[in-house]
Amino acid sequence: PQGTTVAKFAELIGVPPNDVIKRLFMLGQVLTLTQSMGDDLVELIADDMGRKVRVVSPEEEYAVVYHDKDEDLKPRPPVVTVMGHVDHGKTSLLDAIRDTGVAAGEAGGITQHIGASVVEIDGKQITFIDTPGHEAFTAMRARGAQVTDVIVLVVAADDGVMPQTVEAINHAKAAEVPIVVAVNKIDKPGANPDRVRQELVEYGVIPEEWGGTNMFVEVSAKQRLHIDDVLETIILQADVLELKANPDAEASGFVIEANLDKGRGPVATVLVQRGTLHPGDIVVAGTSYGRVRALVNPLGKHVDEAYPADPVEILGLNSVPVAGDEFRVFDDERDARKLAEERALRARLAEQETKSHVSLDDLFSRI
Ligand code: GTP
Ligand code: MG
Repeated sequence: PQGTTVAKFAELIGVPPNDVIKRLFMLGQVLTLTQSMGDDLVELIADDMGRKVRVVSPEEEYAVVYHDKDEDLKPRPPVVTVMGHVDHGKTSLLDAIRDTGVAAGEAGGITQHIGASVVEIDGKQITFIDTPGHEAFTAMRARGAQVTDVIVLVVAADDGVMPQTVEAINHAKAAEVPIVVAVNKIDKPGANPDRVRQELVEYGVIPEEWGGTNMFVEVSAKQRLHIDDVLETIILQADVLELKANPDAEASGFVIEANLDKGRGPVATVLVQRGTLHPGDIVVAGTSYGRVRALVNPLGKHVDEAYPADPVEILGLNSVPVAGDEFRVFDDERDARKLAEERALRARLAEQETKSHVSLDDLFSRI
């Protein structure tokens, strides 16, 4: 259910638009020039008019395969996503981590902005992504797991393994991302860290000291206990992965969050995964595109570049993309526009289709 407008289709196959409209009408489809035909309809009518047509999706037309030579790969910072059941202390742990960074007086940024923040420990950057624990945000957690190198699973020692703890484990396994467990709230009277260990074993998360592969740290985010240990463990886990990326390429990555800002227009927070992003670059993110007017780092500062593992806000897009959308830099603004617009068209058609199904269902339910 994708495609092109009736007018464009007629032009493409070189027949008068009215002939197309007539054919469509005979098939019971009442469409005007500016309305869209789905791919199946395009192929059907073309065939009917003696033209052989193969519909190429914009994804196919603009497909890319990234390939980097070993010598182009440079070490990059880890991206760490904090996951766990609601209220187990994910945001508190990140607050504690950021404070530790500030207290340690390291150069660089320690802050939080929307979902992403950057901490610098002994001159080494770690990018953190916070996720909500509420059950409604499954999709956000799944995406969080996909863009990350390490998952810090926060489990409250007084509450133990809960539904979203298990969900997070499943996301981590699906994305093949290592889990570091932070057993939190050990300051609480009912805290039982060993019970947490035992419960996690049932889900295949086994402490190293029990012969497994998962590193565990017992912490209190609230009382700032063992926060250094968490950081050390994360760095240890990340070092094993020997993370690398090519910084000398056109940038690409994912949208972490996006919104419409009253003063600044569409703002997308992206995570750069490959290449270096600059102001002036032409970017496509999902169904949005535009020339980067400014890049804003998590400290709120305008920057001239964003490297692999950097979270950065992009200003200058023509619309608000969706979290989870891929972004990519294009050489040619026309290509960028074409890809974004065709995606938008297809998204609209898919939505229309869903709506018409809904109304049909409604109709039947009333009979
Ligand atoms: P969601 O984002 O809603 O999933 O919650 P969260 O996991 O980010 O939890 P958050 O950090 O908001 O903490 C939830 C509550 O637990 C708050 O009232 C915190 O003060 C409290 N809390 C967090 N860590 C600790 C801890 O180590 N000890 C104690 N006693 N309370 C804590
Ligand atoms: Mg939180």
